[in-house]
Amino acid sequence: MPLEGLCSPDEAWLFYWGWSRVYDAMQPFFTSPEMREAGLDLAEIHAHNAASLAVLDVGAGTGSLTTQLAARGVRALTLLDQSAQMLDQARAKPPLAHATFVLADATQPLPFAADSFDRVVSSGSFYYYPNPVEALAEQLRVVKPGGRVLVMGSLAPKPRLVRLLAQTFNRFPTEAEYEAWFREAGAEQVRWVHISNPWNASQYAIAICGVKPRGGGAARAAPRAVPPPPPRWRRLLRAPLVVARLTLALAAFAVIGPLQIATAAMGMRRLKATQG
Ligand SMILES: C[S@@+](CC[C@H](N)C(=O)[O-])C[C@H]1O[C@@H](n2cnc3c(N)ncnc32)[C@H](O)[C@@H]1O
Repeated sequence: MPLEGLCSPDEAWLFYWGWSRVYDAMQPFFTSPEMREAGLDLAEIHAHNAASLAVLDVGAGTGSLTTQLAARGVRALTLLDQSAQMLDQARAKPPLAHATFVLADATQPLPFAADSFDRVVSSGSFYYYPNPVEALAEQLRVVKPGGRVLVMGSLAPKPRLVRLLAQTFNRFPTEAEYEAWFREAGAEQVRWVHISNPWNASQYAIAICGVKPRGGGAARAAPRAVPPPPPRWRRLLRAPLVVARLTLALAAFAVIGPLQIATAAMGMRRLKATQG
């Protein structure tokens, strides 16, 4: 059972307090612009239509995907994230100077009216959510009929040891699970492709995209009620559990992180050698 370590706001705050400061330097060893470009193609965001699209990036973090959307010509950009620290990094980026920034939890009702966006996109965020169908249904609610919801997320690492360690801080749904969640949430025309880094094609992730039915056909389009916040005493009681889970996740990451960076650095060197 994965710990889903970074789903709760308390754990996320602690984790991103540090991670936001080094995220942009570390990210190229984990994911690449090429992976995200493949996802944007699947969501049919192209140079010829980008200027007419309003796009919401859910779990936008430091804005890696959003800056690629800006480079494609999207002007109406909204970044939503639960981490103020990650959003602060994005806010400082010149291509996002005119974007809208929203601090909110993607696992709760989204703070937008129905049919607000032409596309809702995310990369590296969705697989943290404890209830993926609810989150997707909410993303489908805020996208316009005929609009698209795109999710880019990890698949399970192949080596068993890496998978076991990584599951302490990530969930790793299968392709079939991702697809079933899209259909259950009410999406139509669900399509997916594997995406990978140019320097290591075997590290598969998925880009999956579905369309909101026209004519109010989305099965779960009704907004959910906002649940009341947990009482303060419950948060205090949970504090030791939060620290224990975070410590375990960080310990696992301390093993996997350097392994991944070394593998990526070797792959990049090999790629450079074959290219030139
Ligand atoms: C690995 S980063 C990915 C950031 C960015 N999308 C990218 O591709 O570089 C994951 C991001 O998802 C955000 N996130 C995770 N759970 C979230 C939630 N429940 N609501 C909003 N954002 C969330 C985190 O705060 C973090 O910024």
